[in-house]
Amino acid sequence: MKIQELFTGVYRIGEDIATLNLTPGSRVYGEKLVSYAGAEYRIWNPYRSKLAAAIRLGLGQLPLSKSAKVLYLGAAQGTTASHVSDIAREGVVYCVEFSPRAMQALLTLAEARKNIIPILADASKPESYCYLLEKVDVVYQDIAQMEQTEILLKNVGAYLKEGGYFMHVIKARSIDVTAEPEAVFEKEIKKLKKAGLEVIQKLRLEPYEKDHLFVLGRA
Ligand SMILES: C[S@@+](CC[C@H](N)C(=O)[O-])C[C@H]1O[C@@H](n2cnc3c(N)ncnc32)[C@H](O)[C@@H]1O
Repeated sequence: MKIQELFTGVYRIGEDIATLNLTPGSRVYGEKLVSYAGAEYRIWNPYRSKLAAAIRLGLGQLPLSKSAKVLYLGAAQGTTASHVSDIAREGVVYCVEFSPRAMQALLTLAEARKNIIPILADASKPESYCYLLEKVDVVYQDIAQMEQTEILLKNVGAYLKEGGYFMHVIKARSIDVTAEPEAVFEKEIKKLKKAGLEVIQKLRLEPYEKDHLFVLGRA
């Protein structure tokens, strides 16, 4: 078996990508575990995680280091956040989620993964969690709401370090079900640029996700 490191903490194993399991022996969403040379890797499913899809589709850089501080908006049950926690294993992943049901799963995840900090809050009100947060290196947005770009901008303004990165998953159908996805994406990208943010890369996520654009950028 050949293992190649694609980005810090992200590995190619055959046809798959994977992260080094921070909690060996345990799965988060039924993913496959692979042991090699004394280490355990979690296969990262691009149909379950838009960040994995973006990596599979040619993301040019992944701005996550071992010690990164990440603000993750819309963590749900922690599928993608758990892989981010594998990568930023000496850092911290602040997971904002407003569904109490999803929060239950996140709380269980955080018991085992000490770098996950679950925050039950509405990401459109970043001031409501200011007492829990410090400035971060990366903001990741995947809330699938109409105001998703405005919500990203508020959080970037409040919590992203100067020169920090953001990853913005735009779901066209959540913003406007009737408009052409490309027209929606163009409008949202303009909002980012108008706010003074640099757009580094844009990736459509087909075939893994329909009508989604993954945007990597910098403040
Ligand atoms: C597409 S799912 C996220 C999937 C997750 N990012 C992953 O890859 O594992 C969107 C999540 O955002 C949450 N959400 C939507 N609006 C929100 C808001 N305003 N504040 C916090 N969470 C929100 C939803 O409850 C849902 O769990």
